[in-house]
This record gives sequence, structure tokens and C-alpha cells, in this order.
Amino acid sequence: METKIFKDDDISIAEAGRIAAAGGLVAFPTETVYGLGASAYDDTSVERIYAAKGRPSDNPLIVHIADISDIDKLAVDISPNARKLIDAFMPGPFTVILKKSRIVPDTVTAGMDTVGIRFPENVTAQRFIKAAGVPIAAPSANISGKPSPTEAKHVINDMNGRIDAIIDGGHCSVGVESTIVDASGCTPVVLRPGGITYDELKAVVPETVIDPHILESIGNDEQPKCPGMKYKHYAPDAEVTVVEGDPKKVRDKIKELIDENSDKVCGVLTMSDNAYDSAVILCAGNTNREYAKNLFSCLREFDRLGVEKVFAEFEERDGYGLAVKNRLYKAAAQRVIRV
Ligand code: TXA
Ligand code: MG
Repeated sequence: METKIFKDDDISIAEAGRIAAAGGLVAFPTETVYGLGASAYDDTSVERIYAAKGRPSDNPLIVHIADISDIDKLAVDISPNARKLIDAFMPGPFTVILKKSRIVPDTVTAGMDTVGIRFPENVTAQRFIKAAGVPIAAPSANISGKPSPTEAKHVINDMNGRIDAIIDGGHCSVGVESTIVDASGCTPVVLRPGGITYDELKAVVPETVIDPHILESIGNDEQPKCPGMKYKHYAPDAEVTVVEGDPKKVRDKIKELIDENSDKVCGVLTMSDNAYDSAVILCAGNTNREYAKNLFSCLREFDRLGVEKVFAEFEERDGYGLAVKNRLYKAAAQRVIRV
């Protein structure tokens, strides 16, 4: 299959919309990461998404909308707390889990009786969804297990020849996926930290809690509320180790680790101006917000440069810290050194 690469002009977006409406797979930019979209009402196309990504079929997809009134078609029993969150954070880097209506096919929700709904803020995403004329089911547009794509070239790397089209909308501004909140019960529960911080959520619904599994790996016998939690995630080819804590101690520890691994190509992901000899250095930025924006593209860049071991400086500095930590720990398969 030849994958068409579109710019984000009106004619191209109209064509991308027609492709999705006719059952095709189209990758599109959002403010968080690129999504791999198909009509949410078309079972066969949704199945093709799972195949193109190599995604386990028990891991549900998020349905993307560009008109707030679509929520009442896709979901039922929407609680007052859920409404407050929807009013406050849509459009935005936010996904709400609600009881699904009968219109949503089981292939989208992997048989669950709830559905994740997201209204992206990115204008290209909104224009594409409107052009398709149907809600768009979409996971992140990476091969399952790889870092999520934040630039069109990442999608091309993973998906060229597997999907019908890619809309190039430049670099995603948030860089990590949406915050997922399960609002299908009485108390909203954060299942995945992301572009909306916990403090922002609590300012709207104070009783919102965080699922305790967010920073842990899940045991085989446990059933996580968010099926995606149990899978290997965001893993570059390089082995990642997070070094967390006081900045000076972090620097000393990473120097030691580079010395110990002198037979390997080492890389350091920094939050500082620290210089390290004999290592490829990429800067994630001084704030956790910048770190979120750059994390996935840096992980992919280390692979491109042939780095074998990545040491990631990390310190929690702002509300994005939780989202960054969640992705970093998974990329590191929980190899975390605290100093
Ligand atoms: O920012 C984002 O959310 C991006 C962009 C493209 O919108 N999408 C994204 O999709 O990250 P994906 O499929 O890579 O991650 C969605 C996560 C998965 O972990 C899945 O298990 C969870 O959402 N999920 C989807 N529907 C769910 C449901 N009904 N209940 C619980 N978790 C759900
Ligand atoms: Mg994903």
C-alpha cells in the first residue's frame, strides 16, 4: 500500500476526510501526539488499526470528536461531575471515560461497556474529524510498544506502507498523551496523567483521585482499569535508566554510570546544562512541561543515533512531572535510580 503524505491545507484535509469516511486509515496531528484514525462506526476499519499497530485486541481505542454534542450520541448516564470536566477541559488534552451508548461498536471499546472520548484542541485535528463527518477512533500512531509519535516523520517511520495517509501538522505542542479520567462512576479517577494536570482537575472536581497503579508496573494476575497500563510502552531500542533526585547527585551518578559502560554507546537526556564526556547528549528542557514536549522525540533520536544506553536526568518540577514520570518509568521498564 502506498501511504499518501498530506500537508494541512484545506484541499488535503478534505481528501483525508474522504479517505477516512470511505474506510481508510489516516494518521493526523493532535496537540498531544499523532493519532491513527478510522471511522469509529466502521468495524472493519477499526480492526485494521489494531493490525497496523500490532496492538492487542483487548486494548480499547479513544473516540475523537470535533463537536461537543457528539458526546450525547456516544455516551449515556453522564454524571454532573463528568459534565463539569467536559465543560472545563474540552477541547483539550483530556479524555473522559463514560458509559457507552449502543452506537459505539465493541471493536472500538474492546468489549468494555465504557468508551473514551476526546475532543482535541488542535485545529488540524478538528478540521480532519469534521471533514470525515464521523467520530474518529484513534490510538497513538506508533507501532505498539514504541514511543508515541510527536512529528509526522515518526509516523512515517512506523506506519509507511501500512496506512492510507498521514497529515503532516508539524511538532505536537504537548508531546505526551491526554489525561484520561474515568468519570463513569461517582468519583472521577485519573487513569493516565497527561496534558491536563491533577491540580487543574481538582480545581474543577475536588474529589478526583489518582489510580495508584500510575507509577507501578502491573502484575500479570491484576486487571488494570485502563487496559493499556499492562503493556510494554514507549520503549526505544536503547536501554533507558532514570536517575532521579538532587541535581548534583544525579550528575555524579550519571558520570559513574557512563564510566561503568565505557564499552557501550551512552546517551544522556538532560534537564540541565550538565556536560558529560563520552556520551550523546540531548536536552529535554528545564521544566517538566518542556520535558513532556521533547521526551518521545528524544527517545526516537537516541535510537537513530545508535545509542545503546540512555541515562535520563529527572526531577519533578511542575504539574507535568507526573505525566513525564509515568512515561519515563515505562520507557525504562521501571529501572529507576534515586539519589
Ligand atoms: O492523547 C491521546 O490520548 C492520544 C491522541 C491520539 O488522542 N491517543 C492515545 O491513544 O494515547 P492510545 O490508544 O495510545 O491510548 C489510549 C489509552 C489506552 O491505554 C487504553 O487502554 C485506554 O486509553 N482506554 C481507551 N478506552 C478506554 C476505556 N473505555 N476504559 C479504560 N481505558 C480506556
Ligand atoms: Mg499509545
